[in-house]
Amino acid sequence: MFNIFKKESSPDPDGKVIALMNQKGGVGKTTMAFNLAHAFKSNGKKVLCLDMDPQTNFSSLFDVRIEEGKTIHQLLINSVKELKPLHNNTLISDVIVKAEEGIDILPAGQELSGFELTVAGINSPRQLILKKFIEKYELRSQYDVIIIDGPPTLGLLVVNILCAADGVLYPFIPDRFSEQGLRNIQQVVTDIAEMEITSTPKNLGYIPNLFDTRRKQANTDLLEITGSLGQAMIHEPFTNKVQFIKSLAQRKSVFHFKSVEFKDLQRQFTVMADAVQKELI
Ligand SMILES: Nc1ncnc2c1ncn2[C@@H]1O[C@H](COP(=O)(O)OP(=O)(O)OP(=O)(O)O)[C@@H](O)[C@H]1O
Ligand SMILES: [Mg+2]
Repeated sequence: MFNIFKKESSPDPDGKVIALMNQKGGVGKTTMAFNLAHAFKSNGKKVLCLDMDPQTNFSSLFDVRIEEGKTIHQLLINSVKELKPLHNNTLISDVIVKAEEGIDILPAGQELSGFELTVAGINSPRQLILKKFIEKYELRSQYDVIIIDGPPTLGLLVVNILCAADGVLYPFIPDRFSEQGLRNIQQVVTDIAEMEITSTPKNLGYIPNLFDTRRKQANTDLLEITGSLGQAMIHEPFTNKVQFIKSLAQRKSVFHFKSVEFKDLQRQFTVMADAVQKELI
């Protein structure tokens, strides 16, 4: 069995896979994924950050050196028997990097954008490649939480993420474009349910981001948007916070900073991590 870093003693022998998804770009998927990973870590959880976006933003937020070609894409290819001619000797232990105590990263590279074409001709279920990969390497027994950062697209990468995840968090900006992005992702979840190839992920809630408290209509718009989507928890909205810009520029989460201006964001992510954990029990 593959085992890089043993999971800390955990009450849950079965780690959970959580994805941050929205087809719309720039809504805070990566920002939320990164800080949520640190919230789980602060709760003593062993976390794997899995970057499934060819933009590689999640990977580059960690202060680690990523070797060319040593990314999730090659591991996924290696895990598909029918793609034997494309296999190489890259091992999972060559790819997973220890980012800091309690957090490992399984990085992406730009080549992930070719995933859909690469697997186009195979006969085995293309939708389940990531799910089977996670099972093959028993990642759930290595980590308490696996956090997947999704790309701002629809397509096979997104389908693979939704088939592999136990639950999905949906960051969005309360506007119509962002709402449409959510609607499109939720349609993919419905399509997966109809295909009956695997169970669908639980909706772990909407995360309103860049919420404008000065605008009178903001609350009404938010309730209208969430009310028109599937029933789920609405996490406390995030307003425009310079602390995000400041911390991400230093490749740090909000938990790294001791000053009082970060306390509220730390609280918000801790509350979110606790709520997500409860939903997934
Ligand atoms: N609440 C916020 N306050 C201030 N800046 C924010 C906030 N949320 C996100 N940002 C900034 O907005 C930008 C986009 O956020 P992020 O990269 O997390 O979005 P994304 O949904 O992952 O985008 P993409 O779909 O392109 O991957 C980043 O520069 C991030 O630092
Ligand atoms: Mg992103």
